[in-house]
Amino acid sequence: MVNRPRDLTEKIATLRRDYQQGFTLDVALVDPDPFEQFTEWFNFAVKSGIREPNAMSLATVNGDGKPSVRVVLMKDYSEAGFVFYTNYQSRKGIELATNPHAALVFLWVDLERQIRIEGSVSKISEAQSEAYFNARPRSAQIGAIISAQSSVLSSRDELQKKKQELELNSEGKELTKPKEWGGYCVSPTQFEFWQGQASRMHDRIRYQLVNNAWVIDRLSP
Ligand SMILES: Cc1cc2nc3c(=O)[nH]c(=O)nc-3n(C[C@H](O)[C@H](O)[C@H](O)COP(=O)(O)O)c2cc1C
Repeated sequence: MVNRPRDLTEKIATLRRDYQQGFTLDVALVDPDPFEQFTEWFNFAVKSGIREPNAMSLATVNGDGKPSVRVVLMKDYSEAGFVFYTNYQSRKGIELATNPHAALVFLWVDLERQIRIEGSVSKISEAQSEAYFNARPRSAQIGAIISAQSSVLSSRDELQKKKQELELNSEGKELTKPKEWGGYCVSPTQFEFWQGQASRMHDRIRYQLVNNAWVIDRLSP
């Protein structure tokens, strides 16, 4: 049994709040285009000053149908989809190579909002990944080069040594993007915008891509 303090157990039972931002969400009020609706909410999230508004949970599924989820940063979006950067040989990279579908969640808890996105995933072009890599701070470039993301490390020192070696050997030289590092684009076939409301009467508006048109429905909370 997990040994946790009694007051923490009591606290969990009482962690409950009523949502009261007062934003309304309705089929008749949302933009017919989910990307426009996303822009409206994302812009609001950025302007409201919440931390890491571009952080999104990314769920992937492996060859055995088992899901895994982690947070990544959305670095761009357009009608083509939502872009994030990572290591193609990481766990998520291996899962996406087997099953190129993903689900995303943006949670903006201070705004009582959640956006869910589902779609197919493809690698973006090498040129686009290179341009992004070249624009990153050198420390982030070094991190991307030395980390065989998701592989087991014997110790923190092992990584630290790799970092020092690269810093020494690359002094004054430009760093180049490793082959296994780059971007993915999630092309949505479904969005859901969730707005918390009082008394658990939450609003859920879903967009589904059917025959190249977005069909909008309200879902039960
Ligand atoms: C706020 C936040 C932002 C992150 N952004 C990224 C990112 O943009 N790309 C990335 O590869 N990992 C990012 N990570 C780390 C991932 O959550 C994860 O640890 C890593 O990608 C390895 O995942 P995997 O083993 O499932 O492939 C971020 C983590 C947090 C908490």
